[in-house]
Amino acid sequence: MIRLTGVEHTYDGRGGQVKALHRTDLTIEPGEFVSVVGASGCGKTTLLRIVAGLVRASAGTVEADGECGVVFQRPSLYPWLSVAGNVEFGLKMRRVPRAQRKATARQYLDLVGLADFADAAPYELSGGMQQRCQIARVLATEPSTVLMDEPFGALDALTRERLQGELRRIATGRTVLFVTHSVEEAVLLSSRVLVMSPRPGRIVLDLPVGNDAAQDRSSPAILAAIDEVRAVVTST
Ligand SMILES: Nc1ncnc2c1ncn2[C@@H]1O[C@H](COP(=O)(O)OP(=O)(O)OP(=O)(O)O)[C@@H](O)[C@H]1O
Ligand SMILES: [Mg+2]
Repeated sequence: MIRLTGVEHTYDGRGGQVKALHRTDLTIEPGEFVSVVGASGCGKTTLLRIVAGLVRASAGTVEADGECGVVFQRPSLYPWLSVAGNVEFGLKMRRVPRAQRKATARQYLDLVGLADFADAAPYELSGGMQQRCQIARVLATEPSTVLMDEPFGALDALTRERLQGELRRIATGRTVLFVTHSVEEAVLLSSRVLVMSPRPGRIVLDLPVGNDAAQDRSSPAILAAIDEVRAVVTST
């Protein structure tokens, strides 16, 4: 479970203080798939980093149990390791035997369509490919909580749709906090959509959405949810 109580955050930046996150209370139950949408700069990454324990909130308390894997907004791969090496890294740290490590890495590289680039260096990949490698690296460790910061932003529409489908499958039984700019993506993937106001971010809509395995893009309920979220996003 993830629970934020009275969390707020102010950065001490070079240009002065920036209040990024307004007082926020948020509880995410195990197995929920929660998306966060909101304008650029409203504090989505800040929220995710606080949940991940990478940023210490200026106020409030954060509880998050279990292992959490983070897919960052900008690809962050180890430049001195191959693509497969990057995916295997977390498994190696967990002392997973070599053969099993290789097999798992291959499975997740396959999943993101990078099987042919296992031996390449990160700099030899395009931005979208680096992002997919990062996704494989995080999913390979099978964390109980997955935090994803616009993981599909740099991908073409087809790849994006395929990975959305894979993510829904992989998300089963896990807790996911997913940041995206796409209202449609948020509604189609999640069981719950949060909309944040412009900076300092606060949650202005918390909408449960249906979440059966085969989400139909054209169902009236989905279209209504997309409309509702979009209306709040554009009015804040
Ligand atoms: N390390 C930092 N130091 C100072 N200010 C920061 C830092 N990181 C973020 N900010 C500021 O906090 C605010 C929220 O940033 P954040 O990265 O959380 O936004 P975001 O919603 O993720 O935006 P985007 O959709 O563009 O990724 C912004 O005004 C930003 O300038
Ligand atoms: Mg961000």
